[in-house]
Amino acid sequence: MLTQLDLLQTEGLAALSSIIDEAGLESFRVAYLGKKGSVTTIAAGMRDVPPDLKPAVGAKLNEVRTTLTVSIEEKLLGLQSAKDAESVTGIDVTLPGRPSTSGALHPLTRIRDRAIQTLRRMGFALADGPEIETEWHCFDALNTPADHPARNEKDTFYLPDGRLLRTHTSSVQVRTMESVKSLPVRIIAPGAAYRRDEIDATHLSVFNQLECLYVDRDVSLADLKGTLEYFFQEMLGAQTQVRFRPHFFPFTEPSFEIDVKLEAKGQEARWIEIAGCGMVDPAVFQAISQQRGDALFNPDEVTGFAFGMGIDRLAMILHSITDIRHLIENDVRFLGQF
Ligand code: DAH
Repeated sequence: MLTQLDLLQTEGLAALSSIIDEAGLESFRVAYLGKKGSVTTIAAGMRDVPPDLKPAVGAKLNEVRTTLTVSIEEKLLGLQSAKDAESVTGIDVTLPGRPSTSGALHPLTRIRDRAIQTLRRMGFALADGPEIETEWHCFDALNTPADHPARNEKDTFYLPDGRLLRTHTSSVQVRTMESVKSLPVRIIAPGAAYRRDEIDATHLSVFNQLECLYVDRDVSLADLKGTLEYFFQEMLGAQTQVRFRPHFFPFTEPSFEIDVKLEAKGQEARWIEIAGCGMVDPAVFQAISQQRGDALFNPDEVTGFAFGMGIDRLAMILHSITDIRHLIENDVRFLGQF
């Protein structure tokens, strides 16, 4: 029996060395160590071994079983690593890897978010309104007469049903005052605006604005001035000078254009127009009151200020961008600079 076991082991190891795949290895395992395998069959013969020989035969049996089990495991590892090696042949694993680049927020998004954060710190909250607007929300309620040039079909995109693509975010002022339940109103409304402009280095037909409105019992021009000076110094730097130039907007009285003084390197400092603002015209409160049918915006009791600006323009100033079209072309060579 001892010789039989020796023979089985020698034979087994020889057969094992010629196996070439995992399926062959599994058949081998079954043939030797499976329930009806040769080793198992011999083990069943232990019953008939005379007692004095049992220890020696038992030890041998264990030795053969262990040797075959270990050899099968080693063979399996060998087969698997051969397969792995095969799957990467032809690939030069010493070549340098491709660097991965990470994306970033668009400069317009960053400026918009920074403007929102700055205004939120002053107590303003986000507000929203539709981009497809009625003439009433975009113009009438904002005290803009029917013959005002901005309402012209040459300047505004009208839909067949008479609605329009909002020409400014000021319509959100109206949407907000129409629906609020109490004062104060203190909102930031960023969003797209549309105009039938010829596209060039400083004009797009879709652009981005940011609107603010503050209405309460005694909001003053000093509040407007302080808020805007702080805002532009936060956005453009603490040294930024801000100037208010009298202007006209139908929905504010008095109205101003705001200029900031910019000092570009190697150039003389110059004033650049950056936003429009003013004290909400009582005629706007009047229109809102009529629409609401209550006295929350009674023009004799409430005052407010509003301002609006182009975010694209702010981005151009902040980053010395000379052509507004760069902001929408999505050229990574341009965007990668921010
Ligand atoms: N809506 C104006 C525009 O698009 C900007 C503006 C001016 C907004 C004065 C205001 C304001 O809120 O008070 O040119």
